[in-house]
Amino acid sequence: VVRPLVLAIESSCDETAAAIVDGEGNLVADIVASQVDFHARFGGVVPEIASRKHIEAICGVCDECLDVAAAHLGVERLTWANLDAVAVTYAPGLMGALVVGVAFAKGAAWGAGLPFIGVNHLEGHLYANKIGAPDFEPPAVVSLVSGGNTMLVHMRDWGDYETLGTTIDDAVGEAFDKVAKALGLGYPGGPVISKQAAQGDPKAIAFPRAMMHSGDLRFSLSGLKTAVVTYINNERAAGRELNIPDIAASFQQAVVDVQVKKAEAALKQTGAPTFCLGGGVAANPVLRDAYRALCERLGVRLTLPPMSACGDNAGMIALVALDRYRAGGFFPLDADAQAHANL
Ligand code: KG4
Repeated sequence: VVRPLVLAIESSCDETAAAIVDGEGNLVADIVASQVDFHARFGGVVPEIASRKHIEAICGVCDECLDVAAAHLGVERLTWANLDAVAVTYAPGLMGALVVGVAFAKGAAWGAGLPFIGVNHLEGHLYANKIGAPDFEPPAVVSLVSGGNTMLVHMRDWGDYETLGTTIDDAVGEAFDKVAKALGLGYPGGPVISKQAAQGDPKAIAFPRAMMHSGDLRFSLSGLKTAVVTYINNERAAGRELNIPDIAASFQQAVVDVQVKKAEAALKQTGAPTFCLGGGVAANPVLRDAYRALCERLGVRLTLPPMSACGDNAGMIALVALDRYRAGGFFPLDADAQAHANL
């Protein structure tokens, strides 16, 4: 066993997750329990349900994490007392969801007499690139696109980040979810929209490319969402049958065009040699293909993390925590969760 062994917990949204990293940066356990089925019938994440489900799941997820790590390390049993630190996502996210992980992690750290480390969830997504590509090194431009975040980050070095631009309203994943809801396709919207879009014509309907030519790296998605909903309502009012694949493909293309345009501007502005993706929307195949083409054209290296690393997970939190542990970046036990935080 190469020490330190650091256990990290993630509970900022609708995934209850725990992971253990060893001193060589190997994830010796990486457990994710998704609540997505409980939220699906409401068409989105319900914060109060998320908190309750975290409370129900967190003990079992951590026990399983310790057991999996023990098996991986070839030791008979691993307990909290065998660890070197406990880490947790403390911000940003749903307050009630974060509080569950933070309170649990603080209790575990205090009970076992271990140092406690707080991790910013967004920094976790940057570190997720290490999971798929262990040789990944900054400088890089990272596009973070999830249900809660849409941002372009210039990662100059580990720990040295500049947020180049964010959405001024909805997140990209949120737009996929809202369009899917308007089409009656259920939640989460991203996977169903991309599946429908594969059968449709991306040029069928001219939806707006908001802020495409704004000259900065900010995004706006709410106008596009409204345009799609208005189109659907107008078609229904006129008694026309909806061509769902065409709507999905045209909406998706509008999103991808803006994302790619801004990514290109960010790469040119920073001169970064590497581009990478994070967040649940990074699963979108059309977006991935568009980035492949862009990076080939610009001669930029592209890192696409595996899907398991793109969504919320504790492995990425553990990797940040390992660096913090080495730097002695510990948190006091009276540290609180924070709903909002920048990188
Ligand atoms: O990072 P993530 O798992 O957690 C949250 O931020 O909640 O991202 C989930 C988001 C959802 O909005 C979902 O609709 C979107 O990622 N998503 C996708 C695809 N798969 C998931 N969006 C577009 N295309 C996809 N294939």
